[in-house]
Amino acid sequence: MLTDFYGNHLTTSTGLARDSYDIGLRAFLSANYGAEEAFSQAIEADPNFALGYMALVRAFMSSGKLANAKAALRNAKNLLDGLTSREKSHFLCCELILSGEAKKARVAVQNHVSEWPRDVMIAQMSTSVFGLIGFSGEAGRENDLLEYTAKLLPQYGDDWWMMSMHAISLCETGQTLKSMQLMEKALKLNPRNANAAHFFAHILYEENEVLAGREYLNAWMPTYDRRSLLHGHLSWHQALWALHDGDETSMWKLVDSSVSQEKGSSLPINALTDTASIYYRAELAGYNVSNERWHKLSEYAAQNFPKMGQSFADIHAALAHAMAGNEEYLNKLIDGNSGFAGDIVPAVAKAWKAISEKKWDKAREELKTASSEFERFGGSRAQRDLLEFTYVNVLLRIDKKEIARKTLLERRPVFYDTVPILAMSG
Ligand SMILES: [Fe+2]
Repeated sequence: MLTDFYGNHLTTSTGLARDSYDIGLRAFLSANYGAEEAFSQAIEADPNFALGYMALVRAFMSSGKLANAKAALRNAKNLLDGLTSREKSHFLCCELILSGEAKKARVAVQNHVSEWPRDVMIAQMSTSVFGLIGFSGEAGRENDLLEYTAKLLPQYGDDWWMMSMHAISLCETGQTLKSMQLMEKALKLNPRNANAAHFFAHILYEENEVLAGREYLNAWMPTYDRRSLLHGHLSWHQALWALHDGDETSMWKLVDSSVSQEKGSSLPINALTDTASIYYRAELAGYNVSNERWHKLSEYAAQNFPKMGQSFADIHAALAHAMAGNEEYLNKLIDGNSGFAGDIVPAVAKAWKAISEKKWDKAREELKTASSEFERFGGSRAQRDLLEFTYVNVLLRIDKKEIARKTLLERRPVFYDTVPILAMSG
């Protein structure tokens, strides 16, 4: 009986298929380029290797190739006879996540890992801030994620992937010291795990360690393949630190070469959210962002997210549409109510509209309503600082400097003295 790296039985008797599968697992779990190729080789070695097709589904999904993912799922479906019950349940989770049935998928994943906690390709679906829990739209989802990874952690021993995943759960619930200790262990075991490098950057961000953060990623990034999943997003982290450091030249260089939708290699969700975020945070810092930039981004958002539904993308699309003056697109998000946090997207969309028209009182009203629920939009704390800092800036614009300072102190104390908002220093 052949097993994968994590000890799960695989219905194949071809050693090369198993070996290629394990290579793919390592690439997939470490967010390095090559998973798709390795899983394809596994299938080439054994065309009846159902798990190989299911892994391909996930690899295609993470590179945005949904038609390929659907085709791989169909191939897997034809091979279900003779599979173990774990593999059949594995298939169900893949099918649900690919069909966008996020709630059902989350339940299926939970049931699956209760029985087979080390089936890593399934366990992975609910981890990190962009997973099924991260994008659940539920209040308290950061704690839910912590609970989820805490339960899995003891099942994995000293595993670099699991450690890094629990470490980000700790980081995003404010436990940065514990997170740092675990992340260092994870990185020692696999220094080229881009998820761990990414989460390490989050810890440094949460500690406002701007110089250390810049140095860390400057050293780590040059050997990271541009085609890999996190290249654009890690470049966003670098650009953000350049911004916090007052280094506008480096910031634009990073944005234009690797973050933005024009030249970066990110998936649309990252290209849109990271670009919108850095543009507006640059504006908050007092840098000029041209109309042309906003306009191009707004068109990109409309093209890639034509329907409301991915709330984290939607609040960033609304920002781009508002700044570009694309009312038709913006109104869809103001009037709609779909997606995991679709009930509160309109408040933020209305706030962006008010901000673009310099109606600061109106913007304050809308943001105040949504501010107790920002967590529900998903994303990391670093990403949600777009909303936090915008809220503070709006308060400054209506001459509520004391309230602005108090708000910052209560919500993001680590940035109390150094927040890159021009109006704060005025
Ligand atoms: Fe990040």
